[in-house]
Amino acid sequence: MLIHSASQLLTLQGGVQRGHQLGQLGIIEDGAVFIENGLIAASGTSVDLLSKYPQAERFDARGRVVMPGFVDPHTHLIFSGNRALEFEMRLEGKSYMEIMAAGGGILNTVKATRLADVSELKTSARARMTGMLAHGTTTAEAKSGYGLEINSELAQLEVILELDAEGLLELVPTFLGAHAIAPEYDGNPVGFTLALSNRMLPELLEWWRSNASGRPLPFVDVFCEQGAFSLPQSRIILQAAKEMGFPLKMHVDEFKNLGGASLAVELGATSADHLVKTSPADIKALGDSDTVAVSLPATPFGLGQHEFTPAKAIIAANGILAIASDLNPGTAWCESMQFIIALACRYLHLTVAQAIAAATINAAAAVGRTDRVGSLEPGKQADLLVLDSNDYRNLGYKFGSNQVARVMKRGKWVAINKNETPYL
Ligand code: NIG
Ligand code: FE
Repeated sequence: MLIHSASQLLTLQGGVQRGHQLGQLGIIEDGAVFIENGLIAASGTSVDLLSKYPQAERFDARGRVVMPGFVDPHTHLIFSGNRALEFEMRLEGKSYMEIMAAGGGILNTVKATRLADVSELKTSARARMTGMLAHGTTTAEAKSGYGLEINSELAQLEVILELDAEGLLELVPTFLGAHAIAPEYDGNPVGFTLALSNRMLPELLEWWRSNASGRPLPFVDVFCEQGAFSLPQSRIILQAAKEMGFPLKMHVDEFKNLGGASLAVELGATSADHLVKTSPADIKALGDSDTVAVSLPATPFGLGQHEFTPAKAIIAANGILAIASDLNPGTAWCESMQFIIALACRYLHLTVAQAIAAATINAAAAVGRTDRVGSLEPGKQADLLVLDSNDYRNLGYKFGSNQVARVMKRGKWVAINKNETPYL
């Protein structure tokens, strides 16, 4: 298929965008993209590609923007239940960590998720995935983390693998058994840390080998935070995971600076996420590393807080900046990367071009998938969006409505939201 007559084809070509390189969209005006066997075969101007591939089936973009599908590199997609009550408690003045310390928060969702079977978890996650896909997310990371005991955690990973196999929204799995101290270990975080590193991780490895053989190992993630896992506890878990060959991620600096970003860098983690209370030393460590700095602006927004990731400082330090939704029932129930871009422009002070690069090619780096997704370059998957307008800057500028007209995954239209009349 040849998609032609895009006002702006955003290719995002050229690989990960570090530091001040962030924001290179690789725009081809009156652009076209030729797709074969679900992969991008060529991109160029409409004039060139229409003459080069005269026989191809055509799709006329009618002067709208065509761009890579969003990659959402941090979601807690799999959960049961709803915490609207806690949202109300927060509006009345309780803090997120106070609610968590009183046994609510993550543990509240753990209770509901442990009770849900695989098919219930699948049904509720699939509904969220449908929303994400319709809003332009074509690849998303998805974490377990609402079981905190091995069987429930593995059930969540099973759901992720099965939903991924459905072939619509592609999922990248992460084991987040270290999301909170399990209720069975209340008051004994060291005991739970040792259970995770000595027992649960080896069980995960064995389960993966017999249930997902052939697939790369999932990421292992830890919530490094006061009230969750301390820096030394995080180190024990991640070091054990690393020795078993798992790639790593970390939740760091959401509420307190514990030095987690520097640990992520030291251990060669693929990403360090949240990064609100990040110190200058941690920013420097990130900037000198290949660990992707993933900002989650919907989280402070969702909590009604006013402090966000020091994204400009991360860019100035030459870091690789990505953005993600953090979709979860506690802090940020957000299925739209378009809204994340709108927040990133206002609160991380990114240009729209920077936010788009952070939500595509750099987000692909945050899940280790730059070889397949995040840009429209020959050999990559034909995962792309047709927007409803002729100017990419409308992303970020407009917000709260869906600006994605169509979504293509691996060469197939998987969501058609709007008719083909450009809404400029
Ligand atoms: O990334 N911080 C830890 N995890 C989530 C919140 C999860 C929840 O509240 O259920 C986050 O914000
Ligand atoms: Fe998170």
